[in-house]
Amino acid sequence: MKNKVLGWVKVAELSEVPEGQPKAIKMGEGRSIALFNEDGKIYATDNQCPHMGYPLTRGTIRNGILTCDWHRRSFDLEGGGCFHVECDDLRTFPVDIRGDEIWIEPGDMTYRRAEEHKKLLREGLLSEDRWTMSKAIALLLKGGVPEEEVMGAILEHVARHIPSAHGSEGGEDVSKLINGLRVGSRYEGEDRLIAVTTAACSAAGEARQRLEVVPLPEPVTWEKISRWVRIFSYEGQAGRIERCLFTAYHKGDEDKLRPLLFECSVEPNFIDNPQIPLYVSYLSEVVDEFGWDRTADLFFYLGADLVGHHPADPERYRRDAINLMKEMLPSIESTALERTNKFDEDAFVEALTSVNLQRSFEEVQAVIADGVKLDRVITTLVLLAADRMANTPVNVDAGWWNLTMELNLASSLRSAQQIGGNLVAAKGLFHVAWQIFADRWINITSRPLSEPLSDEKLNVANEDEGIKLIIGTIESLNVQDVGPQVLGYLNSGYSGERLIKEIGHSVLWDDTGSEVLPTLRTVFEEWQHAEGHPAQPQLLVGLARYVTDIRSNTDNKSAATTAMNFAEGRTTIEVFEE
Ligand code: FES
Repeated sequence: MKNKVLGWVKVAELSEVPEGQPKAIKMGEGRSIALFNEDGKIYATDNQCPHMGYPLTRGTIRNGILTCDWHRRSFDLEGGGCFHVECDDLRTFPVDIRGDEIWIEPGDMTYRRAEEHKKLLREGLLSEDRWTMSKAIALLLKGGVPEEEVMGAILEHVARHIPSAHGSEGGEDVSKLINGLRVGSRYEGEDRLIAVTTAACSAAGEARQRLEVVPLPEPVTWEKISRWVRIFSYEGQAGRIERCLFTAYHKGDEDKLRPLLFECSVEPNFIDNPQIPLYVSYLSEVVDEFGWDRTADLFFYLGADLVGHHPADPERYRRDAINLMKEMLPSIESTALERTNKFDEDAFVEALTSVNLQRSFEEVQAVIADGVKLDRVITTLVLLAADRMANTPVNVDAGWWNLTMELNLASSLRSAQQIGGNLVAAKGLFHVAWQIFADRWINITSRPLSEPLSDEKLNVANEDEGIKLIIGTIESLNVQDVGPQVLGYLNSGYSGERLIKEIGHSVLWDDTGSEVLPTLRTVFEEWQHAEGHPAQPQLLVGLARYVTDIRSNTDNKSAATTAMNFAEGRTTIEVFEE
């Protein structure tokens, strides 16, 4: 499809294309060209219907209009123009009759339709049509358009979709977008397409232009703006924050914006709103990935909506937690952080799972005061959350939303630390501790992370057999067996990274993909951080139990496979016949 210029080629004898009997000609690798004889004149077009790839030789022609037999999209037989939206024009080729022979000029086969296919992608995003999105993305990627550019087009839609559709709940869209991108980068081919399309689907829907925000008139300084943002955040005044962020950006203070948002997101008033620091971290990653030029508007709007969120009136425990954290903050702010790697991890875990808020927060305060490296504490919190996923009873309500939130929030503190600094990450620890306390209803037995779960091995001949067994168990929705199997697999010395990838593959082909993307991404990344820790297996055991329990077995495969074949230029019938 790329970089090929073909001159005139003989494709058939005239006698092979009588009127009313179109002929399909193979060209290149599986590409199919259609020849039609209409009123004695020969026409040549792509045989692949631009809608979903059905062979157009099975279509009908009336009044110079070629109509596909499948969904009845119709095209000008001569020029190829399509009369419908969400469908490309049909490629047509010059024809020359030389004696009894039909010659056509395929011409420049270089991919030049990126703009058309980006438009198609935008149409698919607006109409929330998975096939249109899959097809456009597959065509763009196949045409050599870099994945970042494709994701950039999706991002532009997200930036307008979120304010039009659902405000701060748009954090969910940003989460799927960035996690889809991160997960997709670990795969190739159809798996990658599914991850990217799943991310795109989550952001699909209406997208209106917004009224323009303008900067505050001078004189305004960063000191004033940052103070106002903190106050408005405390008061839940999102609209005012947006204009402040916009003004700071236009004054050249963009480097200070992400740290400020992180700072606001871990303040005590957001205890019990774990999605705020989590989504701020995903939003920050989006800026990192796509740059300010493309993300500024989204950042101002969604960032303001997140940290300007007005929490509900605190109930008793939450009020206690806010007050406790406020009392502890002065001592934390004056502590020298990050001095040692040593701490009593089991005692820390025991306090956090003690269902005693005071004890839990005091332990967090003590660990910070002892100068334990925050990265080390974050690893513990991630593994504690994973252990709870590995251990949660699934017979009633396993609490997956809560447990995956614990896991993803804990992991997000790494970027909170990187962008917002140590104090932000230290404050974030209280938010995770609160979340574990708040999830006490799930009733998970506490256990130390230092003790391996079991040393039993999986009774299979090799790694491939082990993976086959586990994926089969996931697909048969057998939550009880999948945990011990994963553990036995790891105890046998087989590759954890490979198993994560295989589980991810299985999930991506299923419609649970979009829900699972953040957790899958966290496990991919945290697996390396936990290397050598006795609780590392819990990451995989927890993931496997989670994806098995929420699996719904609706297939994403056909859209992706058809889209990939479509991008290769094949018609659906040939594909089915292969
Ligand atoms: S109209 Fe041709 S494949 Fe749908």
